[in-house]
Amino acid sequence: MTEAGDGLDRLLEQVEAGGEVPRHVAIIMDGNGRWAHERGLPRFMGHREGMKAVRRAVTGALEMGVRHLTLYAFSKENWSRPPEEIAALMRLLSEYVERDRDELAERGVRVRVIGDRKRLSAAAVRSVESIEGTTERQDTLVLNLAISYGSRDEILAATRTLADRCVAGDLTPGDIDEASFAAALYTAGSPDPDLLIRTSGEMRVSNFLLWQIAYSEIHVTPVLWPDFGESDLYEATLEYQRRERRFGRVTR
Ligand code: FPP
Repeated sequence: MTEAGDGLDRLLEQVEAGGEVPRHVAIIMDGNGRWAHERGLPRFMGHREGMKAVRRAVTGALEMGVRHLTLYAFSKENWSRPPEEIAALMRLLSEYVERDRDELAERGVRVRVIGDRKRLSAAAVRSVESIEGTTERQDTLVLNLAISYGSRDEILAATRTLADRCVAGDLTPGDIDEASFAAALYTAGSPDPDLLIRTSGEMRVSNFLLWQIAYSEIHVTPVLWPDFGESDLYEATLEYQRRERRFGRVTR
């Protein structure tokens, strides 16, 4: 599902004229439950509508020429939700893979699933492997889907990997620098996000990409995720383009 119309084209033109597009956009997709609640619908319907917003975000990223898009679909903390909600989210993942896998590959999207996949069901792992396998040779846009993801876990796993390499004599502690650490994270191969978007107005980072967002520009929008469309992504990008990124330097 995409938004249509002149307004959208005009926004895209403004983005194109506005300067550099973020190479990497990361999104905390929040507000599915509230969207459903406002309509007297079960939470699951919010997630289902949220899946359509995932498609719009991918379309918008492709239109703008974003090279990496990371979406927080299921956090490690989400495992404590009611089993029926977890099951519904896992079914949605499989449905998304079945419906969109081939089209994503045709549009040049490479999908990578980042997170602790040991906790996923066998069916979910099959879906993940199937979409990663089908899209692995694409390189127009890398779509990182964070599923069963927690940033502290990711940092600990990277630390263990590097410690193991030191014990094996492959590396010395003095060799560990920002580049080798970043290369041991799930997001290896993607640059740090330039822009982090959070929907539904919450001012939190919720254990998402804690290492990687050190210098990201943050955009919080009150829009609930199921209502998020290409226009919201373009508006966030326009705001990003107006920001002065200083990376800690004095610039005047
Ligand atoms: C947060 O809303 C959203 C989630 C926990 C799930 C995100 C899932 C999707 C967008 C759909 C499936 C995605 C893919 C990639 C197939 P919430 O439930 O915490 O909302 P609330 O804070 O309003 O309760």
